Amino acid sequence: MTAAAGVHDFEVVSNEPVAEGLMRIVLSAPALAAGLEAGQFVNVAVPGDASQILRIPLSFSRADAEAGTVEIVYAVVGDGTRRLAAMAPGARSSAVGPCGNPWPLVEGARRACVVAGGVGVTPVVACARMLAGAGVDLDAVVGAQTASRLWGVEELRALGAGRVEVTTDDGTAGRRGFTTDALSELLAAGGYDVVYACGPEVMMAGVARLCREAGVACRVSMERMMCCGFGACGTCNVAMADGSYKSCCKDGPVFDAEEVAW
Ligand SMILES: Cc1cc2nc3c(=O)[nH]c(=O)nc-3n(C[C@H](O)[C@H](O)[C@H](O)COP(=O)(O)OP(=O)(O)OC[C@H]3O[C@@H](n4cnc5c(N)ncnc54)[C@H](O)[C@@H]3O)c2cc1C
Ligand code: FES
Repeated sequence: MTAAAGVHDFEVVSNEPVAEGLMRIVLSAPALAAGLEAGQFVNVAVPGDASQILRIPLSFSRADAEAGTVEIVYAVVGDGTRRLAAMAPGARSSAVGPCGNPWPLVEGARRACVVAGGVGVTPVVACARMLAGAGVDLDAVVGAQTASRLWGVEELRALGAGRVEVTTDDGTAGRRGFTTDALSELLAAGGYDVVYACGPEVMMAGVARLCREAGVACRVSMERMMCCGFGACGTCNVAMADGSYKSCCKDGPVFDAEEVAW
């Protein structure tokens, strides 16, 4: 059973650039770190603007219960994440979590492939850590627009990923093309029981289609704009293949790709 969400005070341990437009923040929040499971997210309050009442939903790449820390890699895209990037070590705020549902371990799965596009790499690294801990063999595909915006390749190698295929839109690192091009070849070679993916929605739709064609289970972590973060407002609805809607914040962010109306 996943831990109940609560409000946790945190202190910033470090907050540094790891690639162009990407920062890694480490928060000291022992109770939060102890409760988080890979694939869940936290809702971070960023001080500095009284008009910004909404928290920022962010996945994490590592929750270290022993150290009491939570590591988040995030893209600086707007006002909230710009203010987050300005939080220096020692700065304090609060985060709500654990939010949402974790990546599931698929029963009987012995070999998995994780696929990350852009900043979707954050929960994918956490997923790889979970799989490695469960003794599941893994390969990885990591894609970015360009080499300078790439993060996570070394982390995935260190977690024991056998093959780490890198793709960039402009060919400045790895092969030129999309993550789906590399995944298509890996799936053709066979042997995967499950694929886990997070990235732009168009990428995840492609991953879902390739997995369906290959007869491989697929789990995706969806991103939506969020307001309440606990299933009350409907802002984050995700359309399901059966015509219903589910909330990304409470029913997700992880879904069985087969359930989603792509
Ligand atoms: C469950 C979940 C996990 C996430 N994990 C991460 C993560 O690990 N790292 C990371 O960098 N980002 C993550 N995001 C996205 C992150 O929440 C947004 O980038 C952030 O809220 C933007 O805030 P802002 O005030 O800086 O930008 P805003 O000014 O609010 O928006 C800037 C731009 O980003 C878009 N945007 C804003 N919020 C979202 C959102 N929730 N989803 C998609 N696009 C959005 C806006 O449409 C706009 O184009 C996650 C989102 C969700 C829902
Ligand atoms: S953000 Fe309100 S229901 Fe999900």
